[in-house]
Amino acid sequence: MSTRIEREMQPRRVLRFVEPRSVLEGAGVKLKRSIALPELDYLDPFLLFDHFGSDDPADYLAGFPMHPHRGIETVTYMLDGVVTHRDSMGNEGTIGPGDVQWMTAGGGIMHEEMPGPLDGRMGGFQLWVNLPARLKMTRPRYQEIASPQIPESEREDGTKIRVIAGTVDGIQGPVRDIVADPTYLDVTVPPHGSFRHPVPRGHAAFAYLFEGSGLFATDRGQDRAVGHPKLIVFDDGDYVEIRTADQPARFLLVSGEPLGEPIARYGPFVMNTKEEIRQALRDLQNGTFVYPA
Ligand code: CO
Repeated sequence: MSTRIEREMQPRRVLRFVEPRSVLEGAGVKLKRSIALPELDYLDPFLLFDHFGSDDPADYLAGFPMHPHRGIETVTYMLDGVVTHRDSMGNEGTIGPGDVQWMTAGGGIMHEEMPGPLDGRMGGFQLWVNLPARLKMTRPRYQEIASPQIPESEREDGTKIRVIAGTVDGIQGPVRDIVADPTYLDVTVPPHGSFRHPVPRGHAAFAYLFEGSGLFATDRGQDRAVGHPKLIVFDDGDYVEIRTADQPARFLLVSGEPLGEPIARYGPFVMNTKEEIRQALRDLQNGTFVYPA
């Protein structure tokens, strides 16, 4: 007699589909936002998700001149074009197609992010991941990963998975030692294919569909077909499954462990209390904001 309690693995159904909204950020950069909206303010631990990119340089050349961050991590993943950056820690460089920059702003950083075209194109994503109270004032840190260092798994059915963070098919992504224990994958599924990936119970998970269209399981036990661009928030469960019909689908799959802490947010600062926000503003005024390089 078995004493093990067998439980059937539960698929994560779609909790909601979020339509990205056009917003202007920085010095006038047009982008599509799908977390940090009135209808989806926070998907703990994810504070913001932006999809940037355009064929028209007027939409992005103004860029993001020097600005502060405190209490969060910002993750930039490039598809096309370049972003040139420099910061108060003395770092500077350029990230290009397929590169990732995982920046832990911690106790305070000032940086500049200036997009530019490559072969006439520019595009990518920025995600903000919250830091727990005990690490909000930590020393800033960078993990910058060039495209060739990001491993790719190719499955028999032709599905391709770039593993930025997390583990797929025994392949671990290069971004490590992040508190939220995140998964960050760039997945391309061919027509009439499917992609299944386990996500720990209790972790928040979303997909961001940016090419083609996909089939997503809803709570009615049916698949709903949706086209890009769309952010898909998953309910709790053991795994995510995304299928395709006649069209391929390309999407990011992102998951992470919620913090369950109060948040106080004000632009580029995300702290636990309003007083900590006031302190950030005082530090900025007094010239004591940035972490010493
Ligand atoms: Co920034």
